[in-house]
Amino acid sequence: MSATLKGRSLLTWLDYTAEEISFLLDFSKQVKAESSSGKVFQRFTGKTIALLFEKRSTRTRCAFETAFGEEGGHPVFLSTADIQLGAKESVEDTARVLGRMFSAIQFRGFKQETVEILAKYSGVPVYNGLTDHFHPTQALADIMTLEESFGPSKGKSLCFVGDGRNNVARSLMVICVKLGLRFTVVTPPELSPDTALCEQCGALAAASGAVITVTADTAALAGADAIYTDVWTSMGEEDRKEERRRLLSPYQVNRSLMDKTGRKDSIFLHCLPAVKGEEVSADVIDGPQSRAWDQAENRKHTIKAIMLATLL
Ligand code: CP
Ligand code: NVA
Repeated sequence: MSATLKGRSLLTWLDYTAEEISFLLDFSKQVKAESSSGKVFQRFTGKTIALLFEKRSTRTRCAFETAFGEEGGHPVFLSTADIQLGAKESVEDTARVLGRMFSAIQFRGFKQETVEILAKYSGVPVYNGLTDHFHPTQALADIMTLEESFGPSKGKSLCFVGDGRNNVARSLMVICVKLGLRFTVVTPPELSPDTALCEQCGALAAASGAVITVTADTAALAGADAIYTDVWTSMGEEDRKEERRRLLSPYQVNRSLMDKTGRKDSIFLHCLPAVKGEEVSADVIDGPQSRAWDQAENRKHTIKAIMLATLL
């Protein structure tokens, strides 16, 4: 399977089959086991990766940088304060140049189009480390974390509560529809995921057995294996802060909302960073049902697995 992934970019899970995603999940678990065995590998020796950041990052930057570096590769961090990208030089030309110097490129920023152009013109694997539209490497770590608690994810129930239009909700919808989960977005109508993506995922659901639901009613949380939330205001939307507070306050993930699953073993997930007291109460994210810290660690193992599968 990994032979067929060599040279591939990861821009959105829409471009991957269920088999390819399942392979990457299994491989991520192997990479995690290797990491805890203490064995040292040098599988990226002689390779380089450009890490382009238009937006801030803790987990994604550190996961790419440490996963690549500890395997003998050379990561180069480039913020938009450092390079010409999009300012003095077009994205196409930047892609052409970086493709001559690096084995791979990671991009975090605003437009999905930028990561698509980088992939089209660089000739090397490009990884989407978050755009306004998608956050695919996050979604792989999320499903891995769900599987660590409940086994194979097919048929499991994951409920996203919060801003249903954001990059994290959209990527979860795609990966869940590919893998055949029951995925519910609980959000006020004003923040429903866009119709085009819902229709695209709806058309894929029959093949995988996935069930996608969008509702404003928290009664839909009954029986959920996992409740997931994200910040109410994503990077780049800071001017919407007050509106989001007004719309999303009834959807804070707190004790009483967790109790709506009716299960003691439901888990809580969050991509982080979290604003405790807004989208989640401190007792939930720091409490026994939270898997948010495992999820953060799994970013590194999944990102390493993606790079190994597509670069070697
Ligand atoms: N979850 C996530 O992408 O975190 P960072 O913004 O810190 O990279
Ligand atoms: N939706 C959030 C995710 C951060 C990892 C954002 O885009 O800011």
